[in-house]
Amino acid sequence: MQIFREKDPLVQAIQKVKSEGKSIGLVPTMGALHEGHLSLVKNALKESDQVVVSIFVNPTQFNNPDDLEKYPRDLEKDLELLSSLGDIWVFTPAAGELYGEKILSERFDFEGLEAVMEGKFRNGHFDGVGTVVKRLFEIVTPNKAFFGEKDFQQLQIVRKLTEKTGLPVEIVGCPILREESGLARSSRNERLSDQNRKKAAFIYETLKEAKELFGTESANYITEWVEKKFQEHPFLELEYFEIADSKTLKKITHKEKGNQYRAFIAAYADDIRLIDNIALDN
Ligand code: PAJ
Repeated sequence: MQIFREKDPLVQAIQKVKSEGKSIGLVPTMGALHEGHLSLVKNALKESDQVVVSIFVNPTQFNNPDDLEKYPRDLEKDLELLSSLGDIWVFTPAAGELYGEKILSERFDFEGLEAVMEGKFRNGHFDGVGTVVKRLFEIVTPNKAFFGEKDFQQLQIVRKLTEKTGLPVEIVGCPILREESGLARSSRNERLSDQNRKKAAFIYETLKEAKELFGTESANYITEWVEKKFQEHPFLELEYFEIADSKTLKKITHKEKGNQYRAFIAAYADDIRLIDNIALDN
């Protein structure tokens, strides 16, 4: 494993590897690594000659300064987890190294992908994600970059970013890794009480039931059904449930042949915000 805190030595090392005809795989993360992140790294190791994992808690994607401050950081543990997987290059820059003096977001037009769901509830979030991902792509020049379907909206936005900027990188979406209970793995799960961690499995159970209902019922019916189910649940507060087109992320009123759909959810357990989603047509 090699650790790079500055971009220049990383760029040089990457140029050397590429000049030997080898491919680069990038896994962008904000650290506090868990099995979900590691599954992305394992995919990257299978599909690339040299894997770069970036660990950077990106200030521009946090709309709430308190959230940024509270974000878990444990570089030592992250490095230990990564070193068990293979010969990985870790890029862990300070903010100034990526952004220069002014830590500012670029503004993007993601053609509406940014206006729904997470974008609606987290103002400016996707401009921040776009800014840092674009910067990482420019520095690392990966052949492939790996993102989790856990953040499906982010995955589609990154696809749109590459389409619009013309950066030559293939975006690989990776399946959601779950705890035994079905709860999607997330660094936030560590902040849940034992009781709420068990109860939070309700989120995925509801998504699976919604998927079943999707065979026969309308999106409106299912949405109302989910909202009612959450009203009856004492530990979880629903922020949104939406059935949307997988590509445009637009909420649907009726199904059309040939399109693919997903159900998306955000809910609070105490003050901890959890998100999840499920493909509805397979
Ligand atoms: P972070 O939340 O650290 O997640 C890094 C990557 O891990 C993302 O692509 C995310 O979708 C994936 N991931 C997280 N939990 C997962 C799970 N349970 N199963 C599969 N994949 C999972 O997402 C970010 O960081 C940032 O926005 C980033 C893209 C790094 C830009 O700052």
